[in-house]
Amino acid sequence: QNARESLYIVSEYAASYFANELWTGNDGRAIGLSYFKERGFREDILKKFQLGYSPDIWDALIQSAAGAGHKEEYLEKTGLAIRNDKGKLYDRFRGRVMFPIHNFTGRVIGFGGRTLKTDKNVPKYVNSPESDIYHKSNVLYGLYHAKKAIRDLDNCYLVEGYADVLAVHQAGIENVVASSGTSLTTEQIRLIGRFTQNVTILYDGDAAGIKASLRGLDMILEEGLNVKVVLFPDGHDPDSYMHHVGSGEFKKYIEENRRDFILYKANILLKEAGTDPIKRAGIIRDIIESIAKIPDDIKAAVFIRECSNLLQVEERILLSELNKMRAAKL
Ligand code: UTP
Ligand code: MN
Ligand code: MN
Ligand code: MN
Ligand code: MN
Repeated sequence: QNARESLYIVSEYAASYFANELWTGNDGRAIGLSYFKERGFREDILKKFQLGYSPDIWDALIQSAAGAGHKEEYLEKTGLAIRNDKGKLYDRFRGRVMFPIHNFTGRVIGFGGRTLKTDKNVPKYVNSPESDIYHKSNVLYGLYHAKKAIRDLDNCYLVEGYADVLAVHQAGIENVVASSGTSLTTEQIRLIGRFTQNVTILYDGDAAGIKASLRGLDMILEEGLNVKVVLFPDGHDPDSYMHHVGSGEFKKYIEENRRDFILYKANILLKEAGTDPIKRAGIIRDIIESIAKIPDDIKAAVFIRECSNLLQVEERILLSELNKMRAAKL
């Protein structure tokens, strides 16, 4: 049995330990399970994603793992336990609801733990550190549970967070993954590209989410994938919006508000620019910058045509701008 295998085994032990605490522990049920229920999550979703609860004790997992014969070394190497200056070992996750992170073959490789406190000084999520089995820049939360649907439906919904994956699943949409805890990486996009060429971004409808979506869509285009975007109203994220309007309305909203990246960017940038003509010229350039990232010339030409129609600028002017940008990149 190799070293990596031992890390998977102890991570899987921890996932069952946390899940068992959630469903049978006194605090787990009273605090963790009621928290998920108050947020509107169904039991089948909690079970499917193996959600759990970490007791608010310094060494609950360490003690339980020792009893089951797991070596401290592996708890340390996965970051489930941390050794302090005095050499004493303590649990990383305490008093949090637990989201196990699976790789796309279904092995547990890490965790995200959400606090139940509303105190702003406590970090909302604590995540596993990098380890020999967990490299967060090439993991997509939920991919194991989504990959079949992504292939079948030939589209991947991309959300920001753990809770968004659960909520979108609960609405009956299973082709969804989260970049969670990191801004989207090229590795993550290539991972999606193994299952589909079509990505639909469902990021939070706040300033940070919109900014991240603009960056993300350029990266997706650069990898040669197709990208659409849905913007949620009033600062909602997919999780809050799904619970706000219900699953039927939620699905309808996504269908009706899915925009290709040109229209999405144009809407956002036009809102910012108002009537200032110089700013409006900047928008055209900004959109062409995104088109310039598309490796396929024929696809790029189609989007130039759309951009020309939408912004009422001659295609030949847009094309010359596009060629200038491409030449500058070479
Ligand atoms: P958000 O702040 O949007 O949280 O961060 P959320 O997913 O909506 O969380 P809930 O609904 O309040 O539970 C999006 C994602 O960024 C990562 C997490 O993966 C989170 O799901 N994140 C956020 C962290 O890793 N640490 C943090 O402190 C906050
Ligand atoms: Mn957010
Ligand atoms: Mn609302
Ligand atoms: Mn959010
Ligand atoms: Mn949220």
